[in-house]
Amino acid sequence: MSDLEEFLGRSVRFVDAALERLIPSADTEPRRLHEAIRWSVFAGGKRFRPALVFAVGQTFGAEIEKLERTAAAVEMIHTYSLIHDDLPSMDNDDLRRGRLTCHKKFDEATAILAGDVLETLAFQVIADDRSLSAEARIRLVGEFAVAAGTPLGMVAGQQLDLEAEGKAVTISDVEQIHRLKTGALITACGKAGALIGEGNEDELAIITAYSMRLGLLFQITDDLLDVTQTTAGLGKTARKDIAANKATYPSLFGVEETAARARKLCDETVAILQPLERPKELLENIARHILNRGS
Ligand code: IPE
Ligand code: IPE
Ligand code: MG
Ligand code: MG
Ligand code: MG
Repeated sequence: MSDLEEFLGRSVRFVDAALERLIPSADTEPRRLHEAIRWSVFAGGKRFRPALVFAVGQTFGAEIEKLERTAAAVEMIHTYSLIHDDLPSMDNDDLRRGRLTCHKKFDEATAILAGDVLETLAFQVIADDRSLSAEARIRLVGEFAVAAGTPLGMVAGQQLDLEAEGKAVTISDVEQIHRLKTGALITACGKAGALIGEGNEDELAIITAYSMRLGLLFQITDDLLDVTQTTAGLGKTARKDIAANKATYPSLFGVEETAARARKLCDETVAILQPLERPKELLENIARHILNRGS
């Protein structure tokens, strides 16, 4: 097993243990709500965003105990975004993480509420993090609120994504959608790791630049996988983007050119780390892993 695979496996174990502790048990009332949350959270997501929090934190020498809750919180925000993304009024998907989507397994109202409460729980988890100073907690809450919200965050991007369906879009439209709907939260993960690890302002700027590129790369590869992979391999319905006429990179450039752009962006993502006087291999390998991922 490569060092990166080992690192990613460890990240999954740590964040899953934290999520298990922090999310109400399935027999807590209202049970249907907690069952629905757990159905979606513990369905085998890749846990890439928590891994990025751990990776950047580790790069800056932060102890894992200081990163755990933030890593769990971001996975809660991300899972909420997936539950809502799959709703009939949004992307209308039946399959997520290899199983029925939350609204299919339960019902639409429960799925909406499960998403709502995963987001509030995320902020509660950071606010209550006793391993961090009050100042650090406030900063993290602010960063994630901006990244998940509007006009600079995920919800803004989701709105633009839906509005763009079936419309003629330019490269800058698609890039804007991708930076907001997916890039903003991933950027906040990198920043969070650097903040918790007490990186200086210059280091924070490098990590922000790295994570912004990584976030865009993540959505470009998501777009590519939608075209190139099978439903079984993805655990979500393949070729949905074409069917829904989504604004994607392959719809603008085709698969070959999109893959070439992704490779170039990955090179830039790695190169931007160059001035960082910290161990860089892990972060470089994460960028390459996102470029080459198969799901
Ligand atoms: C899918 O995210 C949605 C996007 C923002 C592209 P992931 O590919 O990280 O999904 P999981 O968490 O592994 O299920
Ligand atoms: C989702 O983008 C971005 C989110 C904020 C959830 P997609 O709609 O492409 O994600 P998938 O392909 O359904 O996972
Ligand atoms: Mg979507
Ligand atoms: Mg979708
Ligand atoms: Mg997609």
